[in-house]
Amino acid sequence: MITGRTVVAGVLGHPVAHSLSPVLHNAWLAAAGIDGVYVALAPTTETFAAFVQGQRGGGALRGVNVTVPFKEAALAAADAATDRARLAGAANLLLFDTDGRILADNTDGIGLLRAFEVQAPGFDPAAGPVVVLGAGGAARGAVAALLLAGAPEVRVLNRTAAKAQALAADLGGAVVAGALTDAGQAFAGVTAVINATAAGLDGGALDVPLEATPDGAVVMDMFYKPLVTPFLQRARDLGRRTVDGLEMLVRQAEPSFEAFYGSAPPAEIDVRALALKVLNP
Ligand code: ATR
Repeated sequence: MITGRTVVAGVLGHPVAHSLSPVLHNAWLAAAGIDGVYVALAPTTETFAAFVQGQRGGGALRGVNVTVPFKEAALAAADAATDRARLAGAANLLLFDTDGRILADNTDGIGLLRAFEVQAPGFDPAAGPVVVLGAGGAARGAVAALLLAGAPEVRVLNRTAAKAQALAADLGGAVVAGALTDAGQAFAGVTAVINATAAGLDGGALDVPLEATPDGAVVMDMFYKPLVTPFLQRARDLGRRTVDGLEMLVRQAEPSFEAFYGSAPPAEIDVRALALKVLNP
């Protein structure tokens, strides 16, 4: 039941209709019996900033998650940001404080690391070098999270090597830049390889020699349509442990839910299974 006290939060993206976040949050709200609702909203590039500024004071929305293409603009719109959001250069969470301030955070990194904890137990981001494929916003977020978790070296490989170099220059000495074509060498001795490219989106295949990774390396794909991407399937065929992007999505939503509605999401409901039903009706 929607009441006069219903706490409203949501996700801003464009397009946003495909977002699984409303499915996750509303299932948690129902299971927890919280008087709240979570909606998907699609401002345009032109209206995004005005929309966000209009939420000051929290009288309408308690907060929002932010997805493509607004994560960088969300960070810019805020009055204050957490260290992890600043390092990622992007925010996926805005909170509209009652004092009028807009606070930016980024829970994608938490989601990434928790997904590893769940699907590759024992993986330690601080134990050795990690490869991140891609140098866009998603890649930068992953690199930031790994650095904050103590990774001694992050090797960023990108189709356009100059973009990897720019990312490395921005994020400091533990980041080493290279081209995707260097992957064979860069995979030596790594503890994990994370695909943060948009290769799955444009239909292009991500062709890297995963067989050059050590047997114990964990392979992760942020892309989750399909859940087991060709990249993850190749890793599995080689006997590598894998982590999927859906787990990251679910795990980044948990701290967002707590920030909006004041309590951790109820553990008894399996929102991953629900999301899978929506993905594969
Ligand atoms: P996002 O915010 O999701 O990271 P982005 O900033 O547009 O999106 O970045 C997309 C990333 O995917 C880039 O690293 C891009 O490589 P380029 O910098 O060379 O463009 C990478 N990418 C996209 N399609 C790719 C493909 N078919 N093969 C390899 N990399 C690809």
